[in-house]
Amino acid sequence: MTPTLIATIGPSGAGKTTWRTRHTPPGAVVVSLDETRAVLSPCGCSANQAVNAAAVAAGVATTRRVLAAGGTVVWDVTNYLQQFRTELLDLADEFGARTVGLVILPPLLTALARNGTRDPRRCPNCGYARRVDDHAVWRMHHAITHAVPHLHREGWHELRFLTLPPYLHRSEEN
Ligand SMILES: Nc1ncnc2c1ncn2[C@@H]1O[C@H](COP(=O)(O)OP(=O)(O)OP(=O)(O)O)[C@@H](O)[C@H]1O
Ligand SMILES: [Mg+2]
Ligand SMILES: [Zn+2]
Repeated sequence: MTPTLIATIGPSGAGKTTWRTRHTPPGAVVVSLDETRAVLSPCGCSANQAVNAAAVAAGVATTRRVLAAGGTVVWDVTNYLQQFRTELLDLADEFGARTVGLVILPPLLTALARNGTRDPRRCPNCGYARRVDDHAVWRMHHAITHAVPHLHREGWHELRFLTLPPYLHRSEEN
């Protein structure tokens, strides 16, 4: 079995978790920083950034274990920074794993509207809310939009553009 690392690339509210709950291949192991942060947070908050580094470390350890055994791991993350994507690609490379990037980039207003339906209240213990600031959604969306033309040079074996805003669709007329 070829070890495989699948990773989403999309801003908050894009639909990454929705996609992976529907389409994760049978037997694949999901790494969700949201879910791991919730487990590691004394207050149970998935948004608690105080435990983010520990959640990433746990995800990396899980990935090493799964890829070493020839399995498939699905990272459910925003991946909006090239540095983070490079770290995942390097991790996969340690095991000669196949890498699949899943771009989930709906129009900015769609991501904002979906994020806007989440609970905006900050937890009194960790100080974080499930809803992220509009500006943070915009920043992630902007970063990924600018990365789209360059993703094919990052080293992914396969890129799938699952959702793109209309203004990034290839025009067949021109
Ligand atoms: N294709 C879709 N059509 C309509 N609604 C969707 C679709 N995908 C996701 N949603 C809705 O959008 C909201 C956000 O989706 P989801 O939780 O999957 O986003 P996410 O990318 O995982 O965000 P985060 O990075 O914050 O975890 C949810 O309420 C979900 O039901
Ligand atoms: Mg999610
Ligand atoms: Zn909390």
